[in-house]
Amino acid sequence: AGLNWLQGKKALVTAGGTQEPLDPVRYLGNRSSGRMGYAIAQALQEAGAETILVSAPTDLPTPHGVTKISVQTALEMYDVVLGLFPEIDVVIKAAAVADYRPAVEAEQKIKKTGTSRTLELVPNPDILAELGRMKTSQVLIGFAAETENLMENAQHKMQKKNVNLLVANDVTKPGAGFGCPTNIVSFLFPDGRRIDLPQMSKLEVARHLVREIAKLLGIQTKE
Ligand code: PMT
Repeated sequence: AGLNWLQGKKALVTAGGTQEPLDPVRYLGNRSSGRMGYAIAQALQEAGAETILVSAPTDLPTPHGVTKISVQTALEMYDVVLGLFPEIDVVIKAAAVADYRPAVEAEQKIKKTGTSRTLELVPNPDILAELGRMKTSQVLIGFAAETENLMENAQHKMQKKNVNLLVANDVTKPGAGFGCPTNIVSFLFPDGRRIDLPQMSKLEVARHLVREIAKLLGIQTKE
């Protein structure tokens, strides 16, 4: 059941944590393993969608039948995702995108001086918010990774970024969030509906998400 819900649809998923270079050997990164986004790409592909995975560096194998585009930085992800957006039916932004990048990338390895130093950071564009502004008929799905006031912050992100569904993720709970094979999430909808899922594998979360995506696209999902 559900095998062909997304036949004929084009999906784009982002995954992993962006890396923002400081110099030729160092970067600012985060703890995203890519597992959540890769699981979503697999579930979309299994549901029949033509699936593009825009991935920051990870150790994961590309799911069968999925087209992967590798990026490193938030700016690279921004260019790829915005370029493809007009031809896509559904976008899922599971990547952990750096909000800031170093103001300058040193050409040579930064030398140790023995004194303290200050790093200047400049803001990266918010890819999801930009898609929310550009959106025509697309279904747009965001994530919110929070360490406090989960529902409040997630509600705020949903409105600010103009998404059709927001996946709220308390990343402080054991068995949820960065790195682990399972997750604990809630789906929030602009009409106030909310679905709380218990702890389950990231692939199972992804399959629940695919069902909601099909419904948002107006596809009958009764088995
Ligand atoms: O990769 P795993 O190890 O499996 O971990 C999964 C996960 C914890 C990374 C994933 O479940 C998750 O929560 N992903 C979103 C992480 C994140 O960056 O959340 P955020 O609340 O900072 O961002 C909110 C949304 O805006 C996200 O959809 C993010 O992709 C997007 N964003 C953020 C910043 C930015 N500059 N551009 C963006 O598009």
